[in-house]
Amino acid sequence: MRVSQKATQFTESVIREMTRQAVQHNAVNLAQGFPDFSAPEAIKLAAQQAVGANINQYAITWGAQNLRRAIAAKFAAWQKIEIDPESEITVCCGSTEAMIATLLALVDPGEEVIVFEPFYENYGPDAILSGATPRYVTLYPPAEENGEWSFDPAALRAAFNSKTRAIILNTPHNPTGKVFTRAELDLIRDLCVEFDVLAITDEIYEHILYDGSEHISLATIDGMRERTVTINSLSKSYSVTGWRVGWAIASPALTAAIRKVHDFLTVGAAAPLQAAGAAALALPGSYYVELAEKYCERRDLLLSALRQAGFKAFKPGGAYYIMTDISAFAFENDRAFATYLVKEIGVATVPGSSFYRLPASGAQQIRFAFCKQLQTLDHAIERLQRIPSRQQR
Ligand SMILES: Cc1ncc(COP(=O)(O)O)c(C=O)c1O
Repeated sequence: MRVSQKATQFTESVIREMTRQAVQHNAVNLAQGFPDFSAPEAIKLAAQQAVGANINQYAITWGAQNLRRAIAAKFAAWQKIEIDPESEITVCCGSTEAMIATLLALVDPGEEVIVFEPFYENYGPDAILSGATPRYVTLYPPAEENGEWSFDPAALRAAFNSKTRAIILNTPHNPTGKVFTRAELDLIRDLCVEFDVLAITDEIYEHILYDGSEHISLATIDGMRERTVTINSLSKSYSVTGWRVGWAIASPALTAAIRKVHDFLTVGAAAPLQAAGAAALALPGSYYVELAEKYCERRDLLLSALRQAGFKAFKPGGAYYIMTDISAFAFENDRAFATYLVKEIGVATVPGSSFYRLPASGAQQIRFAFCKQLQTLDHAIERLQRIPSRQQR
C-alpha cells in the first residue's frame, strides 16, 4: 500500500527506538531524556486532586485559564516580559506539538527554516511535515573537552536569504549542552531583523544550567519580542515528560494562527494535568536551584566516568546530556558502537548521526543522558568500565 511522500522522507525516531532496545536487552537506559525518579510530590498531588475535582472534560482549546495565567506570571517573574494570557499563549500537547503547530501555522511550503546542527531529531521531520526546507548551520565541538561548542558567524549570515522564514533556536541545547550567549543571541537578533525572519525558540531546559551559565530568552533581546515564538513545557523542569503539557508564547497575530492549527491537531492537552501544571509553575525559586544542583552532581559523575572509560566527553553548560567523541574506540560508526553498547555492555545511548542531516557528520559521536537516579548512573558506570580498550579487542 502507498503511503504519503512526506512519511517516506523520515525514519522512526532513533531515540525512541533505543529505548525499546534498552528494554529488549535489559540495558541501563541512558538514551532517551526522561527522568527515572519521581516528580515533585506537590504536583503529583495537584494532578490527583484535579481528577478528583472533576477536571476531566476538554479544557479551553488553547489552554485552561489558570495555567495560562501561571505561564504569564512565571514569564514575567523570570524573563521580565509581560504577556497577555488571553491572546499570547497556546497550551499544547508538549513542546513537541507546540513546535509542529507553530511551523504549520507560520511557515509556507518552499520557505526556509534555519536549524543549528547537531539538532534535536524532531526538527527534521517537523520541517518536512510543514513543507519547510531546513537550512543547517554547523555547531563545532570544542578542541578541549571543557570548551564551548561554537558556530561560524559568517556561516550563520550566509544561511539567511529572501526565502528564510524562521530560525529554530534551542537553548540550552540538546544534544550538545550549549547555552547560547548574549553576544550570540544579539547576532541572531541582528540577522532576524535584517532579513525579517521569525525566531522559534525551544527553551525546555531553561532551568537546567551549570557553572553559573545564564539562560537568556531570545524574546527579551531588543527587537525580538514581536518576532519570537517562545516554546516551553512541563516535561523537563518538573520531571513529567509523560504528562504532555507544553506551550507557545507569541504575539496575538501569530498566536491566533498557532491556536487554529493546534485546535485541529489535538483540540487540547490533558485537562487535569493542565491544572497540575499551574501548581508546578508556582513552585518556589528554591525548587529550580535544587533541580540544577542535582543534575550538576550527575553531570560531574558521568562526565568523569566517561572520560575514564576512554570517551572524549564534552562538558555541557546546560540540559542533561553529554555528547561524546568515540574515535578512540575505532568502531566503524556510531550505530555499530551504540549497538555494541546496548547488546554487549548493557547501556543504551543515542548514536550521534541521529542529530545530523548526513549520518557521516555524527558517525563518531554518541549521546548519553544523565537525567537518572544516582543508582542508575552507578550501574551504567560499572558497565561502561567493562568496555575493552582498542588494543584488547
Ligand atoms: C530540545 C527538545 N525539545 C523538545 C523535546 C520534547 O519535549 P516535550 O516533552 O515538551 O514534547 C525534547 C525532549 O527530549 C528536547 O530535548
